[in-house]
Amino acid sequence: MNEEDTTLPLSLLVSRRVIEETVSRLAAQISDDYREKHLVAVGVLKGAFIFMADLVRQIDVPLEIDFVTVSSYGSGTNSSRTITMHQDITTDVSGKDVLVIEDIVDTGHTLCYLADHLKARGARSVRLCALADKPSRREQDVTIDYLGFTVPDQFVVGYGLDFDNRFRYLPDIYALEAHHDQG
Ligand code: IMP
Ligand code: MG
Repeated sequence: MNEEDTTLPLSLLVSRRVIEETVSRLAAQISDDYREKHLVAVGVLKGAFIFMADLVRQIDVPLEIDFVTVSSYGSGTNSSRTITMHQDITTDVSGKDVLVIEDIVDTGHTLCYLADHLKARGARSVRLCALADKPSRREQDVTIDYLGFTVPDQFVVGYGLDFDNRFRYLPDIYALEAHHDQG
């Protein structure tokens, strides 16, 4: 970890070994379920880039890869959140089976928006895969078809997850201590 990043107190939450086991388990489940399908994995940038890279290398069925870049604005208690799509997929997903790959589900607004968006683009099926879930903060009902693990109501960083664009490069996942300004 570089020196600047040691100025905020981090506590180890999920080790790289547990992450690796989790990714293997999810990849095995996904491979089983998509054997007769036309899988398109759609990663949600930036947070999912490391998870996605590890996951797809362990999935043993053919797949296409694409990305979206989205951001969400609004207070954590305001259910009228605005999701902005900064970069859409370029793959034609009509008649294909889309799996959205997300780092963490918090309020649920991002995944709800993306599921609707990808169905509107003609996907035959849309399922959701998330490495982490923070169910205590949910505002929108979403079904996570492939879930890594649940985390407590704390802000978490590392393995792609950021705080203010920092900490994404850390190989393990940490809780940022005493941080209340989530979003
Ligand atoms: P949503 O509230 O479910 O729409 O999640 C929006 C986005 O917030 C997620 O895709 C994450 O990128 C980000 N996010 C939510 N909680 C955390 C966290 O604890 N650490 C880092 N990013 C988070
Ligand atoms: Mg994200």
